[in-house]
Amino acid sequence: MAAIFKFPGVAFITGAGGTGIGAAVARNFARSGCSRIAITDINKKSLDQTQEAILRINPKVQVYSQEGDISDDTFVDSFTASISKAFSQIDYAVNCAGILGDSLRSTETSVSVFDKINNVNYRGMWLSSRAALSQMLKQEPLADHPGQRGAIVNIASQLGIVARPGAAPYCASKAAIINMTRSDAIDYSRDGIRVNCVCPGVIDTPMTTSSEEMIARLKPAIDIAPMQRMGTSEEVASAVLFLCSTSSSFIQGHALVVDGGYTIS
Ligand SMILES: NC(=O)c1ccc[n+]([C@@H]2O[C@H](COP(=O)([O-])OP(=O)(O)OC[C@H]3O[C@@H](n4cnc5c(N)ncnc54)[C@H](O)[C@@H]3O)[C@@H](O)[C@H]2O)c1
Repeated sequence: MAAIFKFPGVAFITGAGGTGIGAAVARNFARSGCSRIAITDINKKSLDQTQEAILRINPKVQVYSQEGDISDDTFVDSFTASISKAFSQIDYAVNCAGILGDSLRSTETSVSVFDKINNVNYRGMWLSSRAALSQMLKQEPLADHPGQRGAIVNIASQLGIVARPGAAPYCASKAAIINMTRSDAIDYSRDGIRVNCVCPGVIDTPMTTSSEEMIARLKPAIDIAPMQRMGTSEEVASAVLFLCSTSSSFIQGHALVVDGGYTIS
């Protein structure tokens, strides 16, 4: 993707490991001239791959990378404090870390599975969003971002808007993210912070292609979407970077679907 937006500030991305949406967002910040990028993921090996990919795009980018569990408040608070110490600010926070879970109806789902999905998807996103907001409140808008002290983009899902079989905890966690986004957008507008979310459809990432069972499970959802294909991580990253950029300066509390038309059909 060619660079469209400019990012003179500091980007912070969770779930940035590997070949998924977070990694694509991190690479696209680097391609768009962002020179200070903080990344985290629970998987150190895949996180290292993202760091290498960023440095291949631009060896001058300062990358601050640390593996950890996004549902652990101690880790989230200490990592964001370290970013603030290293880079003095956080201007664009993109919360991507998430898990899908097995295809089970609620009566087949254990409490521990429910807690795990919600702890990573909802609690983890609230923790990292809250930590970024805390730092953003302490900083002044950059000269290139008049009026924008920070921008947060949470990755929800089309399944926060519509539901699918066998995924009640996941669907609910993503719906929670959409309304958490709106609530934070209301609360922090007066501070010059924009909070939006992106709702991807079925995207070709390890989450959706890691097994034959998963591919078969998602095929009907691809077939009924008007565009009848999976999206790419790059297509989601483009929407995320738009929402972080000053080109979206009047967009607040929005849930932007990137789903090939799934939710309109
Ligand atoms: N792929 C899709 O079709 C799709 C559709 C809608 C929404 N999403 C959402 O997009 C986001 C990114 O998913 P993806 O498709 O890139 O999948 P992915 O599996 O490639 O990426 C998710 C990343 O989150 C990390 N992660 C998981 N648990 C974590 C934890 N406890 N702490 C820190 N990191 C953790 C994983 O290691 C992984 O790198 C998720 O929130 C997902 O729910 C994906």
